[in-house]
Amino acid sequence: MSKILALPGDGIGSEILDEAIKLIAAVESLFGFQCEIEHGLIGGIAVDQVGKPLPDETVKLAKQADAVLLGAVGGPKWDTLERHLRPERGLLGIRAELGLFANLRPAILFPQLAAASTLKEEIVAGLDILIIRELTGGIYFGEPRGQKEVGGNRVGFNTMVYQEEEIARIVQAGFDAARKRGSRLCSVDKANVLDVSGLWREVATEVGQENPDVELSHMYVDNAAMQLVRAPKQFDVMVTGNLFGDILSDCAAMLTGSIGMLPSASLNESGAGMYEPVHGSAPDIAGTGKANPLATFLSAAMMFRYSLGRADIADAIDTAVGAVLDKGLRTGDIFSAGCREVGTVEMSDAVINAMRQAG
Ligand code: IPM
Ligand code: MG
Repeated sequence: MSKILALPGDGIGSEILDEAIKLIAAVESLFGFQCEIEHGLIGGIAVDQVGKPLPDETVKLAKQADAVLLGAVGGPKWDTLERHLRPERGLLGIRAELGLFANLRPAILFPQLAAASTLKEEIVAGLDILIIRELTGGIYFGEPRGQKEVGGNRVGFNTMVYQEEEIARIVQAGFDAARKRGSRLCSVDKANVLDVSGLWREVATEVGQENPDVELSHMYVDNAAMQLVRAPKQFDVMVTGNLFGDILSDCAAMLTGSIGMLPSASLNESGAGMYEPVHGSAPDIAGTGKANPLATFLSAAMMFRYSLGRADIADAIDTAVGAVLDKGLRTGDIFSAGCREVGTVEMSDAVINAMRQAG
């Protein structure tokens, strides 16, 4: 029996996770899959209820689970808290506690939504790229970090640091993913300026020699940002460090025009993982029943594929989402003329019904 930990978090998080739990219940009856779902606190709601963004109980439950399904964290209510109490700290903390070093962020343009992109349709039609971001190292976690005063002048500093093992394992994850797709891997760095990137490029090249069946290229991060909006289809898989990956994955997300559609997976060395939509907690529409549950459904699909060993269920969810888009159902964020606007629950029910009908 698989163990899943549900962490709704803040804003629209609980609305979309409620629907994901309905989806999983349908999967249980349709596919003879059995799981136990526990609930935990993370983010602002955890600050409100127990005084910190990542309660120990949540860490304990997460370590016992095969997979964690997360909604979203954060909101204006907690923006003025001290840094260590911010909801985002909960997210960074659970990534570190679970050792989730490999963050997979696919940017796939559903053909039904091609008009939603701000880029010309021919630039993005058929887009299917995967960004792999290193998630537990680099400047997000490097020491020393902080703020101090030097001669009456305030100074803020962080450290971008990577050990060769950290680089090698994420680059290897990139090769493994590329091998299952188009067999092309682009490693992104800033080796013309940063020493840490110089090492990144050396190690990536060495790992490349052990993976000769995948074509490896290197690109500077500024050029990569430009190429992503100029000709994004040149990429298959991109692998990069924590900060560059944070930025490039938002850029890639927007190519699809619908951040409400994008899932992500964060994996550790044992294959356990955390799955979450790329979009945030959307405080502006929280509680209105308008949130798009599809990124969470697609994240659940990734969970079945990567941590629960059920690619068949993942395929069924992906197909059902496509079928519902074909029918013209759209939440507000992906709405276009001629389609029918629906809310969170109606969209979710439609996907679950499509899965039932197919199965
Ligand atoms: C992301 C987010 C997080 C990050 C924040 C919320 C801490 O932007 O997952 O991309 O910077 O990693
Ligand atoms: Mg980000």
